[in-house]
Amino acid sequence: MMWKLRAVGVIALLAQSATAVELVLRNDASVKSAASTIAFGLMGYYTGNRTGDTPGNLPDPYFWWEAGAMFGTMIDYWSLTGDTSYNEAITQALLHQASDTRDFMPPNQTRTLGNDDQGFWAMAAMSAAENKFPDPPADQPQWLALAQAAFNQWAERWDDEFCGGGLRWQIFTFNAGFNYKNSISNGCFFNIASRLARFTGNQTYADWAAKIFAWQESVGLITPNYDVYDGVTIKDGNCRETDQIQWSYNHGIFLHGAAVMYDVTDRNPLWKQRVDGILGSTINMFYNGTIMIEQFCEEPGFCDIDQQSFKGYLTRWMAGTTQMAPHTFDVIHPLLESSAEAAAKACTGSPATGFNGIPGTACGFKWTTGGFDGLIGVGEQMNALGAVMYTMVNKAAQPVTSDTGGTSQGKPDAGLNLPPMFPELSPITLGERVAAGFLTTAIAFSVIGGSVFVML
Ligand SMILES: *[C@@H]1O[C@H](CO)[C@@H](O)[C@H](O)[C@H]1NC(C)=O
Ligand SMILES: *[C@@H]1O[C@H](CO)[C@@H](O)[C@H](O)[C@H]1NC(C)=O
Ligand SMILES: *[C@@H]1O[C@H](CO)[C@@H](O)[C@H](O)[C@H]1NC(C)=O
Ligand SMILES: *[C@@H]1O[C@H](CO)[C@@H](O)[C@H](O)[C@H]1NC(C)=O
Repeated sequence: MMWKLRAVGVIALLAQSATAVELVLRNDASVKSAASTIAFGLMGYYTGNRTGDTPGNLPDPYFWWEAGAMFGTMIDYWSLTGDTSYNEAITQALLHQASDTRDFMPPNQTRTLGNDDQGFWAMAAMSAAENKFPDPPADQPQWLALAQAAFNQWAERWDDEFCGGGLRWQIFTFNAGFNYKNSISNGCFFNIASRLARFTGNQTYADWAAKIFAWQESVGLITPNYDVYDGVTIKDGNCRETDQIQWSYNHGIFLHGAAVMYDVTDRNPLWKQRVDGILGSTINMFYNGTIMIEQFCEEPGFCDIDQQSFKGYLTRWMAGTTQMAPHTFDVIHPLLESSAEAAAKACTGSPATGFNGIPGTACGFKWTTGGFDGLIGVGEQMNALGAVMYTMVNKAAQPVTSDTGGTSQGKPDAGLNLPPMFPELSPITLGERVAAGFLTTAIAFSVIGGSVFVML
């Protein structure tokens, strides 16, 4: 048995030297070629543009939000490498999922649609505006307006009734998680608010960004040490039950938004303190030496499908932070490079099924082992693509604003005054809402635990 395994190992090693993803850092041709191989593998998971499928959707087991995250990554891929191969598919996906109401609230997703799910699509649209991704035809929704639509709806959903403010995780009262206020939902709101402030110069967005960050601190979701906890549950009218698990994307989304605010406020020291604080906490928490890890679940090996994609977003937001807060570059860039090198070494898989990229280039999840760990999927592939391509962030153009070449058209009242999504439902009273909260908690911890814990 032992011997047999070893032999397999040797064969795998030989095969891997023929097709592995070669990466020479700081050599643009090499980085682009590596990114192109990994991106091809990533888009190999996408079926939404096939006849009879729905543009923008990934097949099972991937949730809708992860597709939004993937198209956001692919916009950055185009921006960093100049490779237009996927632009048509990206545009088609974003416009289709924007849906008739032009706000990334497609009725098909109602059953599981949280503020964070909407957020990952809205952030893709924001990246499109900032990177001058080709604007859609005038009769179609525009990138900037799509981000504003999500912003406007979040501002309306801000809930002062419990916890002194904050966005709930879920949008609809009937979904489990409506009684949970979490960092990623508020992080999406914060991140988009800061970027809209920078893009448009409109102070209202900057005020909201400051308010959201202050709320996160007030409720203990961002600690004095700049740890970022997952969320608080509303229970008996209180918000004392905190889920203290730390996920890399929660740190990343607040780190980047804080860096954008540092830029927006002409380097206000408070925002610098927040950037530096979250960055320090991120490096403490999400690195094994110089290599990024998903600290809570990676080593023990129980990250779920969603969590297997979080390192990619932390990488994206660390790279974006170097653009907005240049003093962080000397700390962040070496970490981007060490993780890129490690991630490329994990892209040597040849799984028998499930991977449609170039054999021998499937990316695994762990970057700390010097090889392929056998876990594959959209998350693994997207993480590695980010790891490799964002090492070029120092050569990329700064994200534009409406004053520095941005062409995307905004609509300040986008997403507002829409017909109700469920006209048959009457307004919910406080009593009913508390009851619904109780019910969803019961559901969360029993019947459909698996899917409920996805974003938790
Ligand atoms: C789907 O998108 C991929 C990648 O952009 C492209 O190669 C392929 O031709 C597209 N398929 C269809 C049916 O449009
Ligand atoms: C909703 O589902 C229907 C049926 O599968 C599909 O035709 C439509 O394109 C979907 N809409 C969106 C926005 O995904
Ligand atoms: C600034 O943003 C707010 C919030 O969306 C909006 O109500 C207002 O009209 C905007 N102002 C301008 C000048 O666009
Ligand atoms: C760091 O990575 C090594 C190699 O995979 C592993 O043995 C070790 O347990 C990791 N440490 C942590 C804290 O994850």
